[in-house]
Amino acid sequence: MNPTIQSAINKQINEELFSAYLYLAIASYAGSKGFPGLQNWMTVQAQEEIDHAMGFQIHLLRRGGEVELDAIEKPAKEFGSPLDMVKAGLEHEKHISGCINDLFDLAQKEKDFAFQSFLTWYIDEQVEEEEGAQELIDKMTILGDNGPGVLALDKELAARAYKPSSILIQ
Ligand SMILES: [Fe+2]
Ligand SMILES: [Fe+2]
Repeated sequence: MNPTIQSAINKQINEELFSAYLYLAIASYAGSKGFPGLQNWMTVQAQEEIDHAMGFQIHLLRRGGEVELDAIEKPAKEFGSPLDMVKAGLEHEKHISGCINDLFDLAQKEKDFAFQSFLTWYIDEQVEEEEGAQELIDKMTILGDNGPGVLALDKELAARAYKPSSILIQ
């Protein structure tokens, strides 16, 4: 296994686990502020991030690489209004899209074609992640950040259910 690629994958495992941590923090904050639907939506998001981390872990192991888990950074504790909570998620997803793009760039420079092929799943996934957060921001902006509209939306968000990520089923 190419050591540069191996260390980049280990770094990305940490980024994905931090994403899970961040979404768990937002979920907890949403729950504490009386938005159980947003709590559920963010919890499902956290579960998907753990899948993303495991996707990289499995790829590294299949390629004969060594997994090295690092300490996970402490996330923030307070996130403001429901709109601010989703905006924090979108900002983070943009950062992750940048990380995935950098990984693809590295895979090209190092001529690691298998890693390039593997990464296309994450490139597509990041489009969905940013799209999903933006859709929620748009809905919240239309409904206003407070009042009955937000409560109706919160009920809708309670219906989101976790499904194992397809990156784990290949
Ligand atoms: Fe992710
Ligand atoms: Fe994500």
